[in-house]
Amino acid sequence: MFSSSQLVVGVDIGSHSVKVCQLKRADKAYSIVTLGSAILPEGAVDDGALNDPEIVASAISSLFKNLKIKKKKVGFSISGYSVIVKKVNLAVMGEKEMEDHIMTEAEQYIPFDIQDVYLDFQDLKTNKDGYERTDVMLVAAKKDIVDDYLKMLESIGLQATIVDVDGFALENTYEYNFPKTENVALIDIGASKMNINIISKGISVVARDIVVGSRQLTDRIMGQFDLDYEEAEALKLGSAPAGDKKKELQEIFRSVCTQWILEIKKAIDLYHSNFSDAPLTKLVLSGGGSKVAGLADFLTQETGIEVELFNPFANMKFSKRKIDPDYLKNIGPEMAIASGIAIRPSVI
Ligand SMILES: Nc1ncnc2c1ncn2[C@@H]1O[C@H](COP(=O)(O)OP(=O)(O)OP(=O)(O)O)[C@@H](O)[C@H]1O
Ligand SMILES: [Mg+2]
Repeated sequence: MFSSSQLVVGVDIGSHSVKVCQLKRADKAYSIVTLGSAILPEGAVDDGALNDPEIVASAISSLFKNLKIKKKKVGFSISGYSVIVKKVNLAVMGEKEMEDHIMTEAEQYIPFDIQDVYLDFQDLKTNKDGYERTDVMLVAAKKDIVDDYLKMLESIGLQATIVDVDGFALENTYEYNFPKTENVALIDIGASKMNINIISKGISVVARDIVVGSRQLTDRIMGQFDLDYEEAEALKLGSAPAGDKKKELQEIFRSVCTQWILEIKKAIDLYHSNFSDAPLTKLVLSGGGSKVAGLADFLTQETGIEVELFNPFANMKFSKRKIDPDYLKNIGPEMAIASGIAIRPSVI
């Protein structure tokens, strides 16, 4: 359907690292051209905002150079407080009429000043014979945040032709890999936020961002053992030996993961209270935080639902000469959002 020249390079700018993913499309399948990530200094990206655009720009620029990416068209995604996604139910109307309606009525749906946001919408066309109303997905993104990203990317010669939302990107890459018939919760646990997107019969029905993530573990370890960030991160990842701290570390992991699981359960309960006839069949985890040892089993135990660690590249081809399969498997969960952006065809 779309030629590969129309695909954008997916750039996922997280608070811990930037992830870049370039794909190619042949017939219906995607293959990996290249991918990589670069860790950002603490605080460079915070709460979805670019606190230090120069540092982020230089990290992305080096990644593109190292990965030999020539393509200039990119997509990025936003999340958290800078974007609001809302489903509204409207009378059936034409595209232009709907646009006018949304532009004049948006303030009633969105708690932002309309002057301050970019608005987009999609008619989900849920109307049926004899039911002349339809669900419409509204997306409002803060202009200042989006403009900061556009400016930062422009400063290194990149043109963003797609602005995605983390939850949509996740859904996108999931849909490519799995049949649409399942009811699943997609859960991306990053360094500083968790994104939950519950998909029922191919439609997103619960979507939320929660301010928890793997950085919490690092912070707790720093506080408990009086360590600096690097030392605590190494202990967390197991790259520094735990020694006599093992027991206390386990406690920290257990207490933070319990908090994550409580948040996940709240979303699942909300879903089940509205869709009791379509129980969830699977929880699909992504993001660096999903790699916490034992988390998947703990989550299954607490929810009674099967848990799977997401590998967005499971159905994609790649050259083993260029990309190490072990590296790919390891980075897969963190790459979920970048890969979801990278399968978007560019609109320009
Ligand atoms: N095995 C592991 N156990 C625990 N944490 C891990 C593991 N591997 C990676 N992480 C953590 O995952 C986080 C990075 O994940 P990811 O790249 O998904 O975050 P991000 O996208 O940069 O952050 P966010 O989306 O929250 O802004 C870091 O905090 C890192 O320490
Ligand atoms: Mg992330």
